[in-house]
Formats: sequence, structure tokens, C-alpha cells
Amino acid sequence: MIQHCFGFIVFTLAGLLLLGMACSTPKPSKTTILKSAFGELADGTPVELYTLKNANQVEAQITNYGGIIVALKVSDQTGNLADVTLGFDNLEDYLSGHPYFGAIIGRYGNRIGKGRFSLDGLEYTLAQNNNGNHLHGGLRGFDKVVWKAQIIDSEHGQVLQLNYVSQDGEEGYPGNLNVTVTYTLTAENALRIDYQATTDKKTVVNLTNHAYFNLRGTGDILGHQIQINADRFTPVDAGLIPTGELRPVAGTPFDFRQMKVIGEDIHAEDEQIKNGNGYDHNFVLNQTGNELNFAAKVVEPTTGRILEVFTSEPGLQFYTGNFLDGTLTGKNGVVYAHRTGFCLETQHFPDSPNKPEFPSTVLAPGEVYQSTTVYQFSVVEK
Ligand code: GLA
Repeated sequence: MIQHCFGFIVFTLAGLLLLGMACSTPKPSKTTILKSAFGELADGTPVELYTLKNANQVEAQITNYGGIIVALKVSDQTGNLADVTLGFDNLEDYLSGHPYFGAIIGRYGNRIGKGRFSLDGLEYTLAQNNNGNHLHGGLRGFDKVVWKAQIIDSEHGQVLQLNYVSQDGEEGYPGNLNVTVTYTLTAENALRIDYQATTDKKTVVNLTNHAYFNLRGTGDILGHQIQINADRFTPVDAGLIPTGELRPVAGTPFDFRQMKVIGEDIHAEDEQIKNGNGYDHNFVLNQTGNELNFAAKVVEPTTGRILEVFTSEPGLQFYTGNFLDGTLTGKNGVVYAHRTGFCLETQHFPDSPNKPEFPSTVLAPGEVYQSTTVYQFSVVEK
């Protein structure tokens, strides 16, 4: 009897040991980051690629050149992973020029009219890189610099932290601006971007990310459905500079308060649609009182993929890839034809430095600029 018991105990212990061994090489339950080489700049500066992966196999690849989101792989309704962002698979193509695919935009996202603004009676002249206006931080904005990268441990597992110090006078902006951007891939399949900046002289700041999404992973985006949490938008002149008006969306092609197919009104006989050559407008987000407001929801009906955007920012630029014209070939040899991606750029309103009635983009020494955007991925329940 005792022998039997002894045998049973040994047997059970061995079983537990085996079970323990099997469990000791589990797949990680939190996000991990793998660092690899992505190439180098002409001057030899090395550039890296960081692959963030969560337990659901959702993957975000981010390079410290421009903080660019190179790839974002998420599941469809049947569990198929596909890359839902536009971009290239090598550094050389990014260096040859592109329309801000996936990049961090700064010091000022979108346009500043005539590339000029005044602060405390001092006039500043910025690079005029877009029909006499200043666009997306100038000739060498934050999308074209190499950021210092660090992998940091957090409650979500590993997160990627990028840092860049923009010098006083860079692209015409006053003050040394110390910028930190943190990318977190959560267990719930959200990519969260936290932006933080401080300055040593009064300046203007408006940071965003310029990811182009295509939730189908192929073709154009006109069949995607979108809802934007905005009762008003900021109409623009022919140079895409806001007129200053906050116009109700009701009764216009800009009414996305209920889910609507992107292509439905994109060819409407409308002055604003003409000015933007489609949608290229800032929406004034309705405030919900939460720190992170619901900004937009996009559903792709054939794959069931859903993207929801939440942000602390007051505005959202909805851009439908109107300047894509088939001249760029991206990942896997895909030609980026007209409207093969859309952008949802969380932001303060364009040209705010010249529009005192818009929410202020001024940052003073001693203050901390803080902005958060969450891109939440899910699927339509079957
Ligand atoms: C933003 C602008 C557009 C265009 C794209 C890049 O979305 O509002 O007008 O410049 O970036 O091509």
C-alpha cells in the first residue's frame, strides 16, 4: 500500500514537473519588442526597425527614422492577419521621398498660412514648402530625422520611446524643443501614441502621426465606412488654409455623424470637396468630457476590420489620399494608386498660430505639451 502511494506520488510529481516545463516556455502574454537593423543614412547614421508584438500576434513595425509606422498587422473576422498601413519595406524608399507615410509630423502638423506667424510681437518665418504655405514642419520636419530610441518596460510589457531635440531656429521655429513620443501596443490590440514636449522659448507645437490606413489591405478605400464625432469642420480656401469659420457639417458632404461610405459624397459638386480634391479637412471634434475623446470609427465591410480613434486633441484631419497617383510602389510591390489609403490625423486646427479664435498651440517654457492618440483595432462580431 505504502509502495503504491509512493509510486503514485512520484508519478504525480513527474507529471507536474513536465507540466511545469511545458509552461516555462509560454508565449509571452505581454508585448515584446525586437530590434533589428533597417539600413543607414547617406552619412552612415544607422537606422533601426522595432517590431512590437502582442500575445494575439498583432504586430507594429516602427523605425526611428521619422518615427515611421512601417507596418501594422491586424486580424480580420476570420483571424487572417494583414498589413493595414501604407509604406515601404526598406529605408531607401523612405529616403527617396514620400507623402509622410506613417511618420511623426512636427513641429507643426498641417499648414501655417504663408509660413509666417507672430508670438509676443516677434514675427517668425518658416520654410514655405507647400504653395507658399508651411506644411508638416517644413523641409526637414520630424518625419525626416533620426530619433533616439529606447525600449522601456511598462505594465503593457515593452514600449518604444523615441526622443528628438529640435534646435532653436530649426525650420524657422523658436526655442529648443525636447520631444518624446511613446508607442504602446496593448494586449487589447490598440496602438497608443503619447507625445510630450517642452521648450526653452515660447513656440508653437502640433504633433501628429500621418499613418495611411487601408483596412482591406488592398485596393482603394472608397468602400470603407466612417463615422466622425464632429458637428463642425473648418472650411478651407483653395490653398487648404482654414478660413476661420467653424461650419456645421449638417446638410454637407462632411456629415459623418452617422456611419457613411467614404465614397458616397466624395465626388459631390461642393466647393469644399473641390478645394480638398476630396476630403482633406479638419473636423472639430465634439468633446465628450473624457480625457480621451472618441474621434472616429472606420469599418471595412468585406474583412470586418474596425479601427476606432480616440484622442486628447480637439481636431481630426480626415484625408482620403487624394494626392496618391500611382507613382509610388510600396510594400510587396503594391502600386499606391489614387485613394488607396486614408489618414486620421489627430491635431490642433491648421493655421492656429494665425487664428487667435482657434484653440492655442503655443507652448511656453515651464509648460509640458501632452497629447495622446489611441488606434483601437477590432472586428465586427459575426
Ligand atoms: C495632409 C495634408 C494633405 C497632404 C497630405 C500629404 O493630410 O492635409 O493636404 O499634404 O498631408 O500628402
